[in-house]
Amino acid sequence: MKVIRTNNYEEMSKVAADLVISKIKAQPNITLGLATGSTPINLYRQMIQDHQQNGTSYKNIYTVNLDEYIGLPKEHPSSYYFFMKNELFDHLDIPKEQTFIPSGVVADLDEECEKFEQIITNVGGIDLQILGIGPNGHIAFNEPGTPFESRTHVVNLTESTIKANSRFFKTIEEVPTRAISLGLKTIFESKQIILLASGPKKAHAIRDLIDGPIDEQYPASILKKHPNSILIADNDAMQLVSTKSDTILSSDFLAR
Ligand code: PGA
Repeated sequence: MKVIRTNNYEEMSKVAADLVISKIKAQPNITLGLATGSTPINLYRQMIQDHQQNGTSYKNIYTVNLDEYIGLPKEHPSSYYFFMKNELFDHLDIPKEQTFIPSGVVADLDEECEKFEQIITNVGGIDLQILGIGPNGHIAFNEPGTPFESRTHVVNLTESTIKANSRFFKTIEEVPTRAISLGLKTIFESKQIILLASGPKKAHAIRDLIDGPIDEQYPASILKKHPNSILIADNDAMQLVSTKSDTILSSDFLAR
């Protein structure tokens, strides 16, 4: 796993946007794996800005999303479908039928999980996966202890995740307690993975990721086994890391 340290959230987003946009230009039919949450918002804004100003096209791009809450319909303002539509898809020229997000309102959730794995296979696998990380080290909704071999599955969210995500709801009681999530194995099979982290709330998770072992108690640690994974984290998220700085690249290496 390559580690790039940036000064702040804006710089983290810029480094990520440059990487993502250059990949899209090189491979205009790329399959992107996308994440929700506050972390990728500025990355998505820069993708939109680049599309509007430079005409980078998404007409031949496919996207698959990491997860969705169980019980929230598409039109619910806290559903991940709603988030993706508002924060990204409505502002690009991507055909809606090329964007895939698991549904959390189907009768048979296991069937939906299998269907989603099939969709990923049908689009040729994920070329570039964008990830955030939870304060407890989760990626997608794979909470600590999730097997590295897991495939798309139904998850019972931990108390800490429900609390962390309650900021997107009016009350904590409204936060769904279950979700559909891509499995760790599914994510690991992506050809390239970019993990983004910003802010002091992620400092423990990033310390565990960089300084800790590869262990199912630290779901993100699976990325250390991946041949083409990049962590882009800002100073606040990196503040507890003790690993020697010569193994960590500063963002200006990209400009050199
Ligand atoms: P955040 O969520 O980007 O809103 O911090 C990340 C996550 O919980 O995976």
